[in-house]
Order: sequence, then structure tokens, then C-alpha cells
Amino acid sequence: MEPLVEGAMALSTVLVVWFGGQRVLRGELPIEDVVAFLFYLVNFYQPIWLLTDVNEAWQQGIASIKRIDEVLRLEPEVAEAPDAITPTRLAGELHLAHVDFAYRPDQPVLHDVSLSVAAGQTLALVGPTGAGKSTIVSLLARFYDPQRGQVLIDGIDARQLGLAALRRNLSMVLQDVFLFNGNVRENIRFGKPAASDAEVETAARIANAHDFTSACRKGTTRRSASVACGSPAGRNSASRSRGRC
Ligand SMILES: Nc1ncnc2c1ncn2[C@@H]1O[C@H](COP(=O)(O)OP(=O)(O)OP(=O)(O)O)[C@@H](O)[C@H]1O
Ligand SMILES: [Mg+2]
Repeated sequence: MEPLVEGAMALSTVLVVWFGGQRVLRGELPIEDVVAFLFYLVNFYQPIWLLTDVNEAWQQGIASIKRIDEVLRLEPEVAEAPDAITPTRLAGELHLAHVDFAYRPDQPVLHDVSLSVAAGQTLALVGPTGAGKSTIVSLLARFYDPQRGQVLIDGIDARQLGLAALRRNLSMVLQDVFLFNGNVRENIRFGKPAASDAEVETAARIANAHDFTSACRKGTTRRSASVACGSPAGRNSASRSRGRC
């Protein structure tokens, strides 16, 4: 649509200059009339031009709505058990028992992995890229279920735990930090929309983000798309999230 309007505008300008110019040279038309005509042309095409912009935005909007609809209609691969247990607080004792897992059947990622972590114990998983460290964390959060073996949390098979209860008891800091378009406060509140301002501030302090967000002029109300400022911790996390604070 836009190239069509551009083409028509260019063609009509050429025609006005060509025919108008000839008549000016023959003394049949004052040059001001030709100039005025050119202005009329701009006035004529401007609304059409704006309409093509609206049309483009409309088409993009329709495509986005279709995509959002597709995502919302996706059935989660991980289903909640009908008799799921929903403990309010998990101690955090973790146990992986002979776990096999593959994202695709022909590419096994974890094979017969067993490990135990006591509640309160710190465990670092070290290994080459692609070894499956993040995959283990995804299994603990039950983003996926293992094809074989069991993931036990406080001795309960993760499949038997209510998804909301399980995830309420988990905190996760991802490698690629994603910040939603909004301010820092809204981003922190994402996991608990009803959190009070004091809770948001406490969370920011625990995450070492309070110093650098309050060093920003508007503190946690600063738009997350703005550039990072403040302490090295802030700069690190911000650079990972493509320079946003
Ligand atoms: N969503 C996915 N779909 C298909 N394959 C995946 C998916 N996520 C990870 N993989 C593959 O599974 C394997 C393990 O990936 P994982 O992310 O667990 O590795 P990692 O040990 O965390 O690596 P890194 O040190 O780079 O973070 C890799 O081969 C990876 O390409
Ligand atoms: Mg990883």
C-alpha cells in the first residue's frame, strides 16, 4: 500500500512539474500556480499517507493478537495432579533419583542423574556449557517432567506437588535476565502482585539491587527500559539485561 501511495505521489509531482512547466514557459500560466498545485498535492496525499500508516499498525496489531492467542491456547506439557499436595512451606530437601531427561527423544540431556541436597545446604553445579545444569533447575521447578526417575522435594515427588505451591517456594535467578517494560518496582512485583512497597524494597535489598535502583533518580519507579546506573552489582545485572535498570 505504502509503495503505491509513494509511487502515485512521485508520478503526480512529475506530471505537475512537466505540464505546468511547459505552460509556464509558454507564458500561459504563472509559476505561482504551479507551486500552489504542488502544495495542493502534498495536502491531498498527506491524509492518504497517514491512512497507510494506520493500516500498517493495524496489520501488525492483528498479527500480534494472533500470536498471543496461539500462546494462550497452548496446553501446558506439565499437568497438575488432581490430588496434588499443596504445602505452604517446603524445607527444601532435594533429591534426584536416577533421572533421565531429553528435550527431544533423539538427544538425551540427563542420563541416570542422582543427587541429594539437604535443606539449607548450598550446592554448586559446575560443568561445560550444555551439560544440563539449567535443565536440572528446570526439573526442580517442574517446567518439565523427567522421562525416567524421580525428582523429590522434601521427600514428595514433584509430580504430586501443586505447581503454584511448589513455585511459591522457589526463587530463581536466570542467566538471561528479562525485564518487562515498566518500572523496576513493577518488575520486582511481578512474582507477587499484591506485595507491599516495603516487601518490594526488602526484595530489592536481598537481590543487591536496592543501592543502584535508589541511586537512579526515580528509585524503583524508574522505567526499566532506562539505562543502568549505580553499584557494580547493578551494572553487572543490568548489562546482562541489555543495559536496563
Ligand atoms: N528448551 C530446550 N529445548 C531443546 N533443547 C534444549 C532446551 N534447553 C536446553 N536444551 C539443550 O539441552 C542441553 C542442556 O542445556 P542446559 O541449558 O541445561 O545446559 P547448561 O549446563 O545450563 O549450559 P550453560 O552452562 O550454557 O548454561 C543443551 O544441549 C541444550 O542445547
Ligand atoms: Mg545454564
